[in-house]
Amino acid sequence: MTIDSKDAVAIVTGGSRGIGRAVVDALLRQGFTVWFCSRSQSSVDRALSDLEPIFGERAVGRAVDVGDEPQVNAFVAEVSDRHGRIDVLVNNAGLGLFAPVDEISGDDWRRLMRANLDGPFYFTRAVAPVMKERGDGFILNLASLAGRNAFAGGAAYNASKFGLVGFSEASMLDLRGDGIRVAAILPGSVDTDFFDSIGSPGSTQRDSMLRAEDIAQTVVDLLRYPSRALPSRVELRPSLRKSSAQ
Ligand SMILES: NC(=O)c1ccc[n+]([C@@H]2O[C@H](COP(=O)([O-])OP(=O)(O)OC[C@H]3O[C@@H](n4cnc5c(N)ncnc54)[C@H](OP(=O)(O)O)[C@@H]3O)[C@@H](O)[C@H]2O)c1
Repeated sequence: MTIDSKDAVAIVTGGSRGIGRAVVDALLRQGFTVWFCSRSQSSVDRALSDLEPIFGERAVGRAVDVGDEPQVNAFVAEVSDRHGRIDVLVNNAGLGLFAPVDEISGDDWRRLMRANLDGPFYFTRAVAPVMKERGDGFILNLASLAGRNAFAGGAAYNASKFGLVGFSEASMLDLRGDGIRVAAILPGSVDTDFFDSIGSPGSTQRDSMLRAEDIAQTVVDLLRYPSRALPSRVELRPSLRKSSAQ
């Protein structure tokens, strides 16, 4: 896959807001046709109303819950039928849930695992045969430094992201012989709506966080590696430079 190919097709899950939206923008600017999804049709429509005037038919959005296996399979089949190829999958959609282990309800636990683990599994399994056919593809999994470092209140989120890192590395080993590269991206805190749903930290704290665009740049940089090279895990931290709010 060459990133500059005009025919290249990418799927980005959770592409309506936050990191996913920045990745959608970056891949569209690189010339990809980008299919993105999120659960809510209205948030898909809002993103499309920004993107379509600039990128036209290269931006396509659908309301898909990544934890719903039939919806995922139908979405991937639609992309594959339309283009006959899928070059890049970014498994970005995910939720946060921060509470002590003995206060997490079964429903909340399952909701988190559906989004953060079932989703990447369903998508990876659905795109793998399409990528194998061309002997080419790149799958990027949005994990987190919470997938390496456990913290109090993180039992569910840590479990999902540690799980995603393990899933990413095992899939990488399964698929690299078929020309499919798989990488996990592990960012520290990124200033997005994610923090609104879990109790927003103060604006000073948010100023020192990474920006969604930083993660999008990592995605583009990884895609630029020659196909013989497989950077399979990237950790990205805020530099915490005292003199800069960048
Ligand atoms: N923000 C951070 O500090 C940070 C740090 C490290 C890693 N991450 C990871 O990066 C990813 C994106 O985070 P973010 O900060 O951009 O979050 P965000 O601003 O809350 O955006 C999440 C996106 O995912 C979609 N989404 C959520 N659940 C979904 C589901 N079941 N099916 C389909 N779409 C779904 C949301 O749209 P709908 O609500 O319409 O579904 C939205 O587009 C997550 O996996 C997160 O764990 C975030």
